[in-house]
Formats: sequence, structure tokens, C-alpha cells
Amino acid sequence: MSNPTSSSRKRVLSGMRPTGKLHLGNYMGALHNWVRLQDDYDCFFFIADWHALTTDYADPSQIAANTRDVILDYLAAGLDPARSVLFIQSDIKQHAELHLLLSMITSVGWLERVPTYKEQQENLKDRDLSTYGFLGYPLLQAADILIYQPAFVPVGQDQVAHVELTREVARRFNQFYKATDGSEILPEPQVLLTPSPKLPGTDGRKMSKSYGNTILLSDPEPEIRAKLKPMVTDPARIRRKDPGNPDKCPVGDLHKIFSTPETIAKVYEGCTTAGIGCIECKTWAADAIVSALAPLQERRTKFEQNPTLVSDILADGARRATARAEQTMHEVRSAMGLGSRPGSNPSSNPGAKVSKAVPNV
Ligand code: TRP
Ligand code: SF4
Repeated sequence: MSNPTSSSRKRVLSGMRPTGKLHLGNYMGALHNWVRLQDDYDCFFFIADWHALTTDYADPSQIAANTRDVILDYLAAGLDPARSVLFIQSDIKQHAELHLLLSMITSVGWLERVPTYKEQQENLKDRDLSTYGFLGYPLLQAADILIYQPAFVPVGQDQVAHVELTREVARRFNQFYKATDGSEILPEPQVLLTPSPKLPGTDGRKMSKSYGNTILLSDPEPEIRAKLKPMVTDPARIRRKDPGNPDKCPVGDLHKIFSTPETIAKVYEGCTTAGIGCIECKTWAADAIVSALAPLQERRTKFEQNPTLVSDILADGARRATARAEQTMHEVRSAMGLGSRPGSNPSSNPGAKVSKAVPNV
């Protein structure tokens, strides 16, 4: 039904950092898959804006705009607020609380050994990433995940180590603590690896924001055509009369993902016989991408023109995510010896009471 927090379908949770407008690689590698999961699972999808701060703390000026762009791309891609809980990480303070509590049982060595820790420090040499927050990146991710008790976490290969750490932390938590009925509070989630086709960027390397070779989901048609024009092709096809091989050409890879079987057949025939030129072939690839993106761009425009609708979606998502997260935290707090002090009234605001009895310090 349309209320994921009360149905009995298995839960799925995933998220992305707010890196700005999403590209075809993000779409084929994640979003497209998430959209399909909505048919079979209770889905929670969010934007990890706190995670952005772990690397961008010195200049957070882009985080808000990037978060908005990613939300628009989520909605454009077809994540459906009627079927999925869509929210922003920093709206759900319980993630931070669980991160703190999990930090009590997490060895520093585990975090230092997560491969992305050293890799990212190497990749982002211009920043000081010797911070506590950056070391804790995968533990915050573990809290993001475990707080919703999902069965599956749909991510790409690059996130597998983080889900592995999440499972290790859950295991350790469950060794120490149990629910009052003896059940596990933080079940170990499984990775749901996204099968993703090879999607080259315009320079033939993997499409990635850091390579500057992306086609954005929101790129207008002329931009898509302009980006494809200089795209790298089969290096064996130097002159128009040289035959080529679509299997050795990034443009051929794009055709395989976006073109109809008829067009793909024309590409193989024309390329291997030098019957078509690369310019024409790229035009067809651009046609295919433009029409694949048309429905996304139509939806994006609709949401862009209605910011109130978008904030309502996020407010509703925050409400539903909080309700779910709070259920878990209730059990976590009590299992860790917190939150049920004699005489305490959990429904009152403890801060408000204390401030009368205790002078300001
Ligand atoms: N680390 C993920 C990425 O870079 C983002 C992320 C944060 C995430 N928390 C998560 C992904 C929880 C899945 C589940 O894309
Ligand atoms: Fe690549 Fe198409 Fe040129 Fe063949 S014709 S090399 S597939 S761009």
C-alpha cells in the first residue's frame, strides 16, 4: 500500500551524497534500479548531506543547492513519494544519535582499515581529511542504514566495503545488546548489488563527475548533442573509409544501452563496412539519449516549477523516516541502558524540565 512504514514488505534503504546534478552514470548505476525496486519493497531513499560535510567542511556553500538538485533528479528519475520515503539525512537527528551510540562499540582500527579511508585521502590531497568526522564516514553510513532495519541496501561496487562495515558493527551491537523480547535490534542488512552496464563518459573513461566527462540527466538537447560531437570513438577508425568496431567504441557502448535493436543493427552494419560516418552515428546516439531523458526532464521541470510541492514531499518524508527511526532508537536506547530512568516520563521534554531546576552554566 502507499504507507511504507506500516506494510510488511521487505525494506530497502539507500542514499547518495549531494554531489550536484546527477549524470547518466548515476542513473544507470543506481537511480534506475531504485525506481524499479519501488514495485517490490518498502523503499527509503535519502540525501546524505552530513556526509558531504566530511569532505567539504571548509566550504559548505554548495551543499544546499546540490541537495536540491539531487532531490529534483530523484523525483525526475521516477522516485515516487507515494511509494518511497524520500528525505534528507540532516532532517533525521536520530541518525546522529545512533552514530554516537555505535561509536562506543566501534574500534578505530576497523574504520582505519576501510579501503575508502586511505583512498579518498590520497584522491583529495588538497584537503585535510585527518578529521574525526572523515574517519567516521562509514560509521555514520552504518547508522543511516541500521536505523531503518532494512533487508537490503542497493548500492554499487564502490559502497560494498561500507555495507560490510555496517554488518560488522551490527553483529557487535547484537552481541552486546538485545531487545526486551530477546530479538535482534539491528539485523544485518545485505548488499543488493546494482547490475550496471558499462557507461563511458565522453572521453571514453568511466563517466564520473571528477573526470568532467558527464552527460547530465538535466542537460538540454543541444547540450547533449554538443557533448557527443567530440566524443572518443574506435581508435582504429582514423578516416571515414576505415571500418570500425562498435564493441571497441564508447559511442557503441552508448548505443547498446540507449538505442533500439534496429538502430544497433544499423550501427554494426554501417560501422564495420565504413558505410556510415562517426558523425552520423553520434547523431543517432544523441537521438536515443535525448528521447530516454525526455520523460525525466519533463518531470524535473514540473517539480522545479513547484518548490512548495518539493518541500511538502521532503517534510512528509522526514515525518515518516523519523517515525521509523524513532522506533529503532527506542529499543537501542533502552538496550544500552538509556532513556528509562526511574520517574522519567519519556513523552515529556526532558530539556524543558531540567532548565527550571538547574541554573544556567
Ligand atoms: N557513501 C554513499 C555514497 O557515497 C552515500 C551514503 C551515505 C549511503 N549513507 C548511505 C548509501 C547509506 C547507502 C546507504 O554514495
Ligand atoms: Fe563508433 Fe559509431 Fe564511429 Fe563505429 S561508426 S567507430 S560505433 S562512432
